[in-house]
Amino acid sequence: MSAAIQPYTLLDDDDCESRILRAREILGERLVILGHHYQRGEVFKHADFTGDSLKLSKQAANSEADYIVFCGVHFMAEVADILSRPEQVSILPDMSAGCSMADMANLENVERAWQELSEVLDAEEAITPVTYINSAADLKGFCGEHGGIVCTSTNARHVLEWSFKQKEKILFFPDQHLGRNTGYNMDIPLDEMVVWDYDMPRGGLTVEQIKQAKIILWKGFCSVHQMFQPEQIDNFKKKYPETKIISHPESSFEVCQKSDYVGSTEYIINTIAAAEAGTRWLVATELNLVNRLHDQFKHEGKNVHFMSPSVCMCSTMFRIDPQHMAWVLENLVEGHVVNQITVPTDVAEFARLALSRMLDVSP
Ligand code: 13P
Ligand code: SF4
Repeated sequence: MSAAIQPYTLLDDDDCESRILRAREILGERLVILGHHYQRGEVFKHADFTGDSLKLSKQAANSEADYIVFCGVHFMAEVADILSRPEQVSILPDMSAGCSMADMANLENVERAWQELSEVLDAEEAITPVTYINSAADLKGFCGEHGGIVCTSTNARHVLEWSFKQKEKILFFPDQHLGRNTGYNMDIPLDEMVVWDYDMPRGGLTVEQIKQAKIILWKGFCSVHQMFQPEQIDNFKKKYPETKIISHPESSFEVCQKSDYVGSTEYIINTIAAAEAGTRWLVATELNLVNRLHDQFKHEGKNVHFMSPSVCMCSTMFRIDPQHMAWVLENLVEGHVVNQITVPTDVAEFARLALSRMLDVSP
């Protein structure tokens, strides 16, 4: 047994599969595997629980297992560490499974934004900071410390309603699209949602724009969901006019406006599962999930299509592979913890506060 990954990279998927199954049997209830819907099939099938970010964070909080192996991306394993008990261990099978959107905001540029906003108005009095769960733990900590909160794609509306009860404005990071799509559905006009460009002094905004804004949107986006375009919907509908369009709210405003349904990965699955046989769906979210929906529902006569003509996979989610899973699980069997995710206690304290505010307002 080696603590190094290298020998595992030479194993084929079938070999890894039998090693994973054997390790799971030995570890029993000491282990729980959580799998996000974007995971590839060879990994997803090993998950004890699958879900979107909200469901999995609740699962992590309620888990009794000693080891929580998170098949997802870095921020998800951080949330599992923050919400689980101190003696529980959160593991990310491949440390390089990050989220490019989460990386678009960091504590330094969010603190700078807060400072610059404070030169225009009393930020503490006027603004609730809201971070999408796709963000580093210290940004959740920032929100906790400044009266703010975390949201997911499932509860964004509830979270924004809560936030407006606290203060008159919201600073929303890192995903401008989730913020804009949610704000617009709450009847906030587009011109009262301004974009904060973190590379520009004062976000590239005038004093007047900041004073008039209801929501200040961070200039972040998901590189996967930005591939979906309204023209793809128009072109598809020329061929199949009866198609229902369903999109994740990380997609652009234009795509969401042309969609019949907008919601989280879990919502997308549930909506198509509840649809009638013979319906046709064009879906704007990550390819692994759409392929799984296609395979799952074709037997019920439902046609599920991917919106983009090019391949849009989340390359960081894809880093979790059977080789890394076999590696972390066999090490656990031997009593070695590899790839533990630990959030420093001082950060975790405020991040937990922001997450618990979110869980309190979640439907
Ligand atoms: P969900 O919470 O909808 O699963 O979204 C997570 C994510 O990263 C989507 O890109
Ligand atoms: Fe991040 Fe986009 Fe991947 Fe979701 S799909 S984990 S937002 S890069």
